[in-house]
Amino acid sequence: MSELRLTAEEQAMLAGELGPGVQKAMDIVVTLGRIYGAPDLVPVTHVQIAGVSYKNIGDAGVEFLADWADAGARVRVPTMLNPMGMEEARWQEIGFAAAFAQPQLRAIGAFAKLGVQQTLSCVPYLLPEAGLHFGDHVAWAESSAVVFGNSVLGLHTNREGGPSALAAAVVGRTARYGYHQDTNRRANWIVEVACPVHTVAEFGALGYLVGQQVGNGCLWFADLAAWLPPLAEDITQGGAAGDRLKTLGAALAGYGAVALYHIDGYTPEARQHGAALLGPAPQRLRIDSLAPAYAVMDANPEVTAIDLVTIGCPHASLSEIEAIADYVRGKQLRTRLWVTTGRLIRARAEEAGWVQAIEAAGGMVVADTCAVVAPVRQLGIRSMATNAGKMACYAPAHSGVTMRYGELEQCLEAALSGTWPAT
Ligand code: F3S
Repeated sequence: MSELRLTAEEQAMLAGELGPGVQKAMDIVVTLGRIYGAPDLVPVTHVQIAGVSYKNIGDAGVEFLADWADAGARVRVPTMLNPMGMEEARWQEIGFAAAFAQPQLRAIGAFAKLGVQQTLSCVPYLLPEAGLHFGDHVAWAESSAVVFGNSVLGLHTNREGGPSALAAAVVGRTARYGYHQDTNRRANWIVEVACPVHTVAEFGALGYLVGQQVGNGCLWFADLAAWLPPLAEDITQGGAAGDRLKTLGAALAGYGAVALYHIDGYTPEARQHGAALLGPAPQRLRIDSLAPAYAVMDANPEVTAIDLVTIGCPHASLSEIEAIADYVRGKQLRTRLWVTTGRLIRARAEEAGWVQAIEAAGGMVVADTCAVVAPVRQLGIRSMATNAGKMACYAPAHSGVTMRYGELEQCLEAALSGTWPAT
């Protein structure tokens, strides 16, 4: 293990002078720093914590959080929470069991005691409240947010684990290694995309094909800008480009372990530094067709009856909610539709009247959760449809459902008719 320099304040934290909760957090941050050869710690401006759903953390996780909160630890930088296993306001109405809800509420109570904001969303980058700026060092644990933050916003973050992100929030620092160091932000893969990529579903399919080839590589997309609309000035709205990049990154992180990509002439660091971001002797990958991705992601073509159509993985943006509201307004759905998003985004969509349009049609704009981290089998759901690459990857394994994967319009037609539309 190499030498890790600590300031006097950091040494005091490690020695327990600020209490046992802070000491435990600093111990985690310092241990990681020593393992990864960090020279020092870097202050972080924002933290995103994952590992919130009782479905994933279980009783041991709830006890761990409660103990840490009881030890007097408090976050010292703005810290937000990933989705939990249910919507807080309507868990009974939706049908979740009290045996699930009670420990889940205890877990988010512990986070509240620690000072963590109850955003319960995997898209902190769509929240103006996060106050993110190009070049900020942050500590994020949600893998889809990590890749969006690093790549599209030019943030610096590693893929934190749940406890290490919480530790960073408590001490306001993380160890300076990995993507916090500029030398590690150079691409070791050049990816060429030789087939058309237009829609959110197609960007998810591209993410699958690339992610499962490159592992945790850092990517240089040589020609992807040609298939993307311009990045919106205000990315918190989502927008045509933001929605595509949101799903691309989630699939890259879900099927691989990508935390950073650059798009030549498009993403902020690529615009600033150009080909200087290419590392020595990068490997090459060329994508000629998206068809192999659909063969895997549209996993159950024999299934046509759909129990749940789910849109919003990562959580839906305002632009996605608006488009869904426009599609279903004045119609009546025949099967369940969940548009999953964060409670702050839901409130904004409600102000615009979009939530009412979707719910009048029989759908739900579900806050705080998603169909991966919620125990959907408890609700009798056996077959799902989505246009989100990460959902297609995770839901069959995590929620034990069959999966149809396709365009937003196909998903919404399935919600209207109850069956997956023939092509
Ligand atoms: Fe978010 Fe759930 Fe997808 S946490 S990225 S909506 S699996």
